[in-house]
Amino acid sequence: MADDDERVTASGSEPEERAIEAALRPKNLHDFVGQQRVRGQLSLVLEAARIRERTADHVLLSGPPGLGKTTLAMIIAGEMNAPLRISSGPAIQHAGDLAAILSSLTEGEVLFLDEIHRMSRPAEEMLYMAMEDFRVDIVVGKGAGATAIPLALPPFTLVGATTRAGLLPGPLRDRFGFTGHLEFYSTDELELVLRRSAMLMDMRVSSAAFAEIASRSRGTPRISNRLLRRVRDWALVHGTEQIDARAASAALDMYEVDARGLDRLDRSVLHALCTKFGGGPVGLSTLAIAVGEETETVETVAEPFLVREGLLGRTPRGRIAMPAAWEHLGLAMPADAIFAGLPSSGDPD
Ligand SMILES: Nc1ncnc2c1ncn2[C@@H]1O[C@H](COP(=O)(O)OP(=O)(O)OP(=O)(O)O)[C@@H](O)[C@H]1O
Ligand SMILES: [Mg+2]
Repeated sequence: MADDDERVTASGSEPEERAIEAALRPKNLHDFVGQQRVRGQLSLVLEAARIRERTADHVLLSGPPGLGKTTLAMIIAGEMNAPLRISSGPAIQHAGDLAAILSSLTEGEVLFLDEIHRMSRPAEEMLYMAMEDFRVDIVVGKGAGATAIPLALPPFTLVGATTRAGLLPGPLRDRFGFTGHLEFYSTDELELVLRRSAMLMDMRVSSAAFAEIASRSRGTPRISNRLLRRVRDWALVHGTEQIDARAASAALDMYEVDARGLDRLDRSVLHALCTKFGGGPVGLSTLAIAVGEETETVETVAEPFLVREGLLGRTPRGRIAMPAAWEHLGLAMPADAIFAGLPSSGDPD
């Protein structure tokens, strides 16, 4: 997800931010905040592999952007003391691209495939065999003269990451020994993330300010870290050395992140839903067009958070505004806005 715009809560990471993100990334499971269940299960998988002196099972990590999938992939390599190779679904368009990567892996290496749901079908099929039998067939020549030369691979651990687990074909999902689904973080957990980051960035921030920033972070550590940097900029310009809650909220108000953590995209989705479609139900793609965004952006970036906040509902007939949405926008809910049963004003999806 590197293509988000400059929204301060955009959960994708822009190139210039990668370096800063890297500096704040926890390096081991112990420093990885929250995600208790996934962390516990993963730690067991890794520990067992270490005891058996084998490479760890393949791991699939799924969840919305910015929750720590890439971070965990790096931690897995670190904990296994193994080298890490990084590639991504969109970078693997031909089976040959994948063959080149696989055939150069060393024993025990961790291969991280980000956005694995965007890999091409032929590459995917090659990956099945590689994951299961540590073997690939390299096809040489074309047409009737083509021959497949089997090539044995050293054992490796595949770590796949996806924001859209539902798009992964069953056979691929089944070949992962462990699947971890990352959940949004609680504000307490985000406060811990922020405390750690503030320490690394040498900032002085009050507890109330941490709480203020955490509550506006959409349950997402990447956003916490980003908001913290914006607050730091604000404090620098205003000559504020000790950041308190008032300074934090003044800074965040300036960046149009509201008290619930909604940014401009979130609000425009809700606003369109309420004012243009009478609260819905309306199809996702119609809604996306109304706010001038890609369907995928609305679906993976704005929607999971809005649903979790009880602001937006998904029904078989389309998206609907929940009562809290009207309230949050300060709009009166029309008498005929109900949660289902209205004629669908958009495409079904
Ligand atoms: N559990 C955590 N504890 C501390 N910091 C975290 C945690 N999870 C994520 N972060 C911070 O959030 C940033 C984003 O995390 P990461 O890049 O791993 O997200 P991602 O799930 O891979 O997102 P995307 O789907 O966009 O690739 C990291 O730079 C890291 O500093
Ligand atoms: Mg990532």
